Amino acid sequence: MKLILGTMRWAKLDYESAQTLIETALDNGISFFDFADIYGSGKSEEIFGEVLSDHPTWRDDMIIQSKCGIRPGYYDLSKEHILESVDKSLERLQTDHLDVLLLHRPDVLMDPAEVGAAFDTLKEQGKVRYFGVSNMSSSQIELLQQHSTEKILFNQLQFSLVHAGIVGQGMYVNTNEPEATDRDGGILEYCRAQGITVQAWSPLQASFESWTFIDNPHYKALNEKLELIGSKYGISPAAVAIAWILRHPADIRPVLGTTNPEHLLELVKATTVELTRKEWYELYIEAGHQLP
Ligand SMILES: NC(=O)c1ccc[n+]([C@@H]2O[C@H](COP(=O)([O-])OP(=O)(O)OC[C@H]3O[C@@H](n4cnc5c(N)ncnc54)[C@H](OP(=O)(O)O)[C@@H]3O)[C@@H](O)[C@H]2O)c1
Repeated sequence: MKLILGTMRWAKLDYESAQTLIETALDNGISFFDFADIYGSGKSEEIFGEVLSDHPTWRDDMIIQSKCGIRPGYYDLSKEHILESVDKSLERLQTDHLDVLLLHRPDVLMDPAEVGAAFDTLKEQGKVRYFGVSNMSSSQIELLQQHSTEKILFNQLQFSLVHAGIVGQGMYVNTNEPEATDRDGGILEYCRAQGITVQAWSPLQASFESWTFIDNPHYKALNEKLELIGSKYGISPAAVAIAWILRHPADIRPVLGTTNPEHLLELVKATTVELTRKEWYELYIEAGHQLP
């Protein structure tokens, strides 16, 4: 299953609703859960840990990923903080290892050798199996990789129909348009070439700050197109927006942020559909982008 369930919005869930959401995910083939030490100031991990402790047999079928490196008012990828953060996440999640640890954001003061040493320690201690990053450029990944014996396997980036810079820049190469500006070092192509799996965060958000573009009157043309294509395939407009991400051949994994089991069931249907090339481009244009 290519979908990941994100937990950034789980702080508001009580035990029963968290349990229902986890069970709905597992019953529908979603076994990959994305956390961060900061989500709900630790509450997302805590509620998940409480449910997991009552269902210990679920753990073997799960991939648990968490992130570290964001502290109140600053970023911290020091070895000390990475190790401390993982210990606290494990305690809250009530598990003995993370399947994946991501560095949440670039810390410009990071010493890549220290990060590599932190990865080695966590691997030796059996606390983390695999490593990755989030919101990092190709050169930042190169730098970290040079100092790490562990392969960087994942990069979690914001990507949706509306926030589509990682595909847009690639289309404007060699033009004089502002979209040609390569801000991230051709990050999508770099990840593909290096065998790094891209995870798409906020796949339905217009921007990090604003609401979803689904049913949003500012995105009328896009919603009409999502509806039209959705009715052709018998899936919801939101599921079409997820199918749009899945259609990209880079094997991008959407990180779903819904806390509503009904919405989750709708979105899973995205995996049953393959949009045509024409539909993919039509949706891209209706989302407000242009082709060069
Ligand atoms: N690495 C990073 O820097 C970073 C940053 C942000 C997020 N993330 C990760 O990405 C995950 C997803 O982010 P996100 O929560 O912004 O994701 P999203 O899936 O784009 O947005 C989810 C929000 O859209 C709402 N929504 C409205 N209509 C919906 C529909 N028909 N179907 C589904 N959802 C609908 C959801 O409400 P309901 O709950 O009512 O469905 C929820 O509030 C996070 O949980 C986190 O794991 C990572």
